Amino acid sequence: MDHFLQREGVLFAEEVSLEEVASCYGTPCYVYSRATLERHFRAFQEALQGQKHLVCYAVKANGNLAVLDILCRMGAGFDVVSIGELERVLAVGAEAGKVIFTGTGKREDEMRRALEVGIRCFSVESESELYKLNAVAKSMGKRAPIALRVNPDVNPQTHPYIATGLKDSKFGIPATRTLEAYRLAKRMDFLEVVGMDCHIGSQLTELDAYREAALRLKHLLEVLAQEGICLRMVDVGGGFGIRYKDEEPFLPCAYASLLESVFGASNDYEMVVEPGRAIVGNAGVLLMRVEVLKQADTLHFAVVDAGMSELIRPALYGAWMDILPVRKREDVEARLWEVVGPICESTDFLGKERSLALKEGDLLAQRSAGAYGFSMSSNYNARPRAAEVMVDKTQHFLVRERETLPKLWEGEHRLP
Ligand code: LLP
Repeated sequence: MDHFLQREGVLFAEEVSLEEVASCYGTPCYVYSRATLERHFRAFQEALQGQKHLVCYAVKANGNLAVLDILCRMGAGFDVVSIGELERVLAVGAEAGKVIFTGTGKREDEMRRALEVGIRCFSVESESELYKLNAVAKSMGKRAPIALRVNPDVNPQTHPYIATGLKDSKFGIPATRTLEAYRLAKRMDFLEVVGMDCHIGSQLTELDAYREAALRLKHLLEVLAQEGICLRMVDVGGGFGIRYKDEEPFLPCAYASLLESVFGASNDYEMVVEPGRAIVGNAGVLLMRVEVLKQADTLHFAVVDAGMSELIRPALYGAWMDILPVRKREDVEARLWEVVGPICESTDFLGKERSLALKEGDLLAQRSAGAYGFSMSSNYNARPRAAEVMVDKTQHFLVRERETLPKLWEGEHRLP
């Protein structure tokens, strides 16, 4: 459930019409709903309340400071994958002790900074990273808390670009080498082995793959315990799917029951989850205006002022994301439109064959754009990045200014 609803033919974010947002801030523009964001985060908190847990929001989905700040105030931890994401969460005053650092190629300076501020755990993805982290920790006279990211080799049934737990994926350590890697880590003086981590993919709507992965982790935990390597934290990753069209994703409480059934409710382990999309995806829309309507041989194109530079998911994954008129029209017939951007690429589409009644100048909203929308946007074709706005009941706030043109070449230099 979210708070983007039609009222008398006009699309609102909470109590604010998107027409008002467009007239205040222009288009293209991302619009987020605070109530939706909070609702989704709370669903995870409540589902897991019977277990020792930490919900670490995956910053990569949407790292806007206002989003991070709202979640931080609600007690969220954070999953970061770079020093940039780490500094973002520190900038909103997040406790470093609630930050997990995941990612497959951490640099030494990133490790150093994370150790300096005292993060909760590094998720280590290779034997080589163990050596590197041990050396960095040694040079700082510290011990680095670590979990090993296990690649459980399960098929998560999602788009191949966002599946991460298959055996030839670049992520994690193959399950077959995990025990050896734990023994190695245990021998390192400047590592503290605290947990096990796993993330099998994104936009998953079936619990089966999660169950399979959880059972593999459980087995590994038991074998390790027999060897005297007792872990206290299990990080089961993120990847919880949302409804873009007609998907029927499972609820956080179903997932929590699965965890309890596999790992027990004994609080032996602190359960960490890293949802990104499920918290912020349906809490945002991309607001845009129709610039040009044109006809090709057989297709009708609606060229809007947003494109793959603002929202790359359709171009990159063939993702289907709903496109709604901000004000419903009765004065023209609906027909099928290819909704495309102004970028010089044939992959620059936001939606194909969308039935819409349109005129030039109309506002459209692309739904479910709160996750991996702005955070994957670019300046391609020298386009300033879009503004971001947060709606909170009857109020709206500019939470990121539209980039200015001079910003585009700030830091560039001509030769003498
Ligand atoms: N934890 C780890 C280790 C991850 O790699 C990811 C996402 C997450 C958590 C959060 O996953 P989520 O709950 O948001 O599905 N750009 C793609 C999604 C890439 C996901 C990358 N990793 C998209 O737009 O669909």
